[in-house]
Amino acid sequence: MKRAVILASGNGSLAQAIIDDAQLSTQIVALISDRADALVLERARLSGISTHVIEMKSNRQVWDREILDCVNNLKPDLVISAGFMRILSPDFVRTFPTINSHPALLPLFPGAHAVRDALAAGVRETGTTIHWVDEGVDTGKIIRQVKVSILPGDNEASLHERIKEVERGLIVAAV
Ligand code: GAR
Repeated sequence: MKRAVILASGNGSLAQAIIDDAQLSTQIVALISDRADALVLERARLSGISTHVIEMKSNRQVWDREILDCVNNLKPDLVISAGFMRILSPDFVRTFPTINSHPALLPLFPGAHAVRDALAAGVRETGTTIHWVDEGVDTGKIIRQVKVSILPGDNEASLHERIKEVERGLIVAAV
């Protein structure tokens, strides 16, 4: 069975969807978070997935080394960035095949505030993208995309939640 490691920073509903998918022919060998207080850690523990916390350091290169060494020890075939709010080093993305789920139709609205940026731009639809991670910020080759309409009265929270409903199915299918 193929081995995958999940990276996540916060709530972890995407990570939970991956962990829960009974059809998944991939073993989730660990979940790594950059935040000790992330709810996703509790979700992983409750599902019997081993967890690692690697908090950002004042010296960014120390953190880069730490996460690379940690993932290297886990020997994954795939790394899944599912709500991970950090940029991975060039060394990391050259070493491990890594996919990311992003809450916008890339190349539109890259970065950490994709939902807010789509609303501010006044577009009628946005969506979600699964892509390979390269050395840029949300610039890697696109694997799958699904559109999500922006409804009158949407705010960042309501729109993000509708996008995440789609993202959960898409990331599972992509893995
Ligand atoms: C998801 O919408 C994911 O695309 C986004 O964080 C959310 C995580 O939700 N990631 C990014 O914006 C990365 N640039 P979750 O914590 O409920 O899984």
